[in-house]
Amino acid sequence: MGIDQLSGSAFHCDPFGWTLRDDVPLTNPNIFSFGKPGTGKSATTKAFCLRMMDFGYRTLILGDPKDEYEALVNYLGEVPITLGPGLQARVNPLTLGPMAHGWENLTREEARTRATIVFSRWLTLIRGLVGSQKIGQARVPFGPTDEVAVKTVLAQLTGYSAGATKIVETTIPAVWNALNNPTPELVRDCRYPSERDFLDGSRTLRDSLSQLVTGTLAGLFDDHTNIGIDWSAPIQSLSLSRLEPLGDEAVGIALMCLNSWGRGMREVSSAKDMWISVRDEAWRQLRLGPEAVKSFDADLRVSRGVGGQSGDIQFAVAHKPSDLLSAGDTGSQAQAIAKDLLHLCDIKILHGQKPAVANELDMLLGLGQMSRDIITGWAPQGKGRALWQVGEQNYKVQTVLHPLNGH
Ligand SMILES: Nc1ncnc2c1ncn2[C@@H]1O[C@H](COP(=O)(O)OP(=O)(O)OP(=O)(O)O)[C@@H](O)[C@H]1O
Ligand SMILES: [Mg+2]
Repeated sequence: MGIDQLSGSAFHCDPFGWTLRDDVPLTNPNIFSFGKPGTGKSATTKAFCLRMMDFGYRTLILGDPKDEYEALVNYLGEVPITLGPGLQARVNPLTLGPMAHGWENLTREEARTRATIVFSRWLTLIRGLVGSQKIGQARVPFGPTDEVAVKTVLAQLTGYSAGATKIVETTIPAVWNALNNPTPELVRDCRYPSERDFLDGSRTLRDSLSQLVTGTLAGLFDDHTNIGIDWSAPIQSLSLSRLEPLGDEAVGIALMCLNSWGRGMREVSSAKDMWISVRDEAWRQLRLGPEAVKSFDADLRVSRGVGGQSGDIQFAVAHKPSDLLSAGDTGSQAQAIAKDLLHLCDIKILHGQKPAVANELDMLLGLGQMSRDIITGWAPQGKGRALWQVGEQNYKVQTVLHPLNGH
């Protein structure tokens, strides 16, 4: 990656290799990169992905709000897939993904296991989407009854509740429709005495979904997927720059959909099929409240995949840890969620920060004085300078870009 400033030698980053070594206490190969705007986070991310290609890794950019991966994608002979209002491309975040393959040949037990994984992914996403909406200043709550309603509808729409050997993919507008036109079974399962009571009780849930379906998700994430990811290409990227005028929240919601979809697409993979899933600009999703953070958290957990087979590295990029906490709730629950999330990434790249943010990092990661000084004193003085935390070990690294890069 560049120069290890303390030893003066080259610094190599080998996430999976590290997890296999006894002298490096790493339990996962995931990376979380933090830093003030413009400190070189994305450049280091790109350099990492490009250099890992020589070792068989491919790269999936799960949302590029600034089209900043486009040059790299083009250099590698590919073209980003562009999502935006008025464009053709659709991504269904309620994808079945590769989980659907061979469903009809599964035993009851296997089908149940797969269904649990898929339904839990969908539910987490819908919770995140609904929970990112606001009533006044507060985020929309997603209670146990909402959960029953959504689960029941998902089961109905996919045909799973009918005990079928097939499962049919559904969409978010279909979920919303089904909630607006509840069947007697749905009303009963949610333990409402009448349809009227169901409609009254589910108003917030339905209104929140309505806002998403007719607003932010419209024409992007509201239908079956019609794009094809080329899994044999070195890199694939989904451009979201067309959403930039819609604001940070809209981009955050799009990222949440893509992140969940990306998880679905990588839920089944073999150890030889090695991908780096890049979630740059993650702060936009993380600022959408605790449910959005939980959704992101769940998406990072895919790395070991079904049966521990996956060879994926999750690479997340944000500005500062309080992106995870600024959900209007800096209390202990949010702190706990943030700490949990950080534990999912045993490698942290800490670029330059202001002292207040370095204190936040210290609180969550236990940096110590020397590391704090590196982050606040040395790192801000140059692009690509960062403290790399690899498990318990720290490295002071200057990323060195290829001469062709940097413009
Ligand atoms: N290691 C490096 N050496 C030289 N220049 C660099 C290095 N890393 C980044 N740069 C340059 O610094 C600028 C900002 O980098 P980059 O976009 O990666 O920052 P960022 O932290 O991702 O910013 P943002 O928070 O806005 O996304 C770019 O012009 C980039 O080419
Ligand atoms: Mg960036």
